[in-house]
Amino acid sequence: MAISEQANGSPTRRIDVSLGYRSYPIFIGSGTIQSTDIAQYVGGSRLLVVSNTTVEPLYLDVIRDRLDGKSVDSVVLPDGEKFKNLDGLDLIFTALLRGGHDRKTTLIALGGGVVGDMTGFAAASYQRGVPFVQIPTTLLSQVDSSVGGKTGVNHRLGKNMIGAFYQPLAVVVDTDTLATLSEREFAAGLAEVIKYGLIADADFFVWLENHLDELLRRDAGALTYAIERSCQIKADVVAADETEQGVRAILNLGHTFGHAIETFLDYSDWVHGEAVSAGMLMAAQLSASLGYVSVAEVARIRMILQRCGLPITPPKSMQVDDFKRLMQRDKKVLDGQMRLVILKSLGTAEVTADVPETHLRQLLMSACGG
Ligand code: NAD
Ligand code: GLY
Repeated sequence: MAISEQANGSPTRRIDVSLGYRSYPIFIGSGTIQSTDIAQYVGGSRLLVVSNTTVEPLYLDVIRDRLDGKSVDSVVLPDGEKFKNLDGLDLIFTALLRGGHDRKTTLIALGGGVVGDMTGFAAASYQRGVPFVQIPTTLLSQVDSSVGGKTGVNHRLGKNMIGAFYQPLAVVVDTDTLATLSEREFAAGLAEVIKYGLIADADFFVWLENHLDELLRRDAGALTYAIERSCQIKADVVAADETEQGVRAILNLGHTFGHAIETFLDYSDWVHGEAVSAGMLMAAQLSASLGYVSVAEVARIRMILQRCGLPITPPKSMQVDDFKRLMQRDKKVLDGQMRLVILKSLGTAEVTADVPETHLRQLLMSACGG
């Protein structure tokens, strides 16, 4: 990891995602939108910034200023997970075609994970592929969705079911953008930060327990460290297994349960990080029932999620059969066999097809209050 002193004097951290000729940098710090030479990642003279109705008024002008000399078009999507679908995607393609954009055009994703995933997929498929840059503006997108090249949209029958692996040219994480983020969305991002401690770094989990109050106050130093450590863990996992043939699946701790919750709720009411929070605690409880983590460790996980104000149980209206039906649509299901991410210990995880049906049923009954 490198630290460079940028023009504004504040240190910017740089992490590289190592994928051969498709390697790319993640710049992290305060003011990186101002201090990073974003234009160097725009090969042609034209670009299309994709944003949404919430983020565009806050940050589009700043991006425009940084790209002086380029021809900057923009498209503003409706805000929300329920618009992360093929209709939403069509708005991007229509803007590209109406604007006469060719294969030299660069797309810029300016927003949270919804905008980032959709822009990435549009970039992967417009005229069979144009370059794109991620400028993530939620904590969740800064530590997770902008890194690693998973792009796509939801289908009403399943979350993230249509998409592609397609890597950006660069990720510019400006922690200043988090100043305008709601408490609820900030907490949702913390769920994914906590995930990294659980799956890959027990010391980081302890650090999070000890520094959570600073993080909740959005202390700049604590925040930069938490984002940096999260991105480093994700970059390492992605470099080892870009297309999720194996180890990358651990990044989905709790997501099989979480995606079932999101699909059940029709992508409304709960935000992604909240569903992941409840799902991670379920995964931890399952891991304890299999004898891998202790009851005391599960209590620590419950406690840190609760301190963030995150949900720790699924929606009351959800029944065991809803989970079973929706979990079958998880992308980790192979040849009809469900695979789940479990914690082998606090700080290590693995994906397994060997969870006995009785353990899963017991977990679902207890989580659904049955
Ligand atoms: P989001 O994109 O819906 O953003 C959350 C809310 O915050 C939205 O209302 C948005 O407009 C608003 N917002 C964004 N930046 C803001 C800012 N700086 N100030 C004020 N408001 C701001 O949700 P998210 O949590 O960022 O991302 C969730 C999505 O990411 C889900 O669709 C999930 O599936 C996806 N995801 C993808 C990956 C991946 O690897 N590609 C990983 C994790 C999650
Ligand atoms: N968020 C899971 C992954 O990127 O693989």
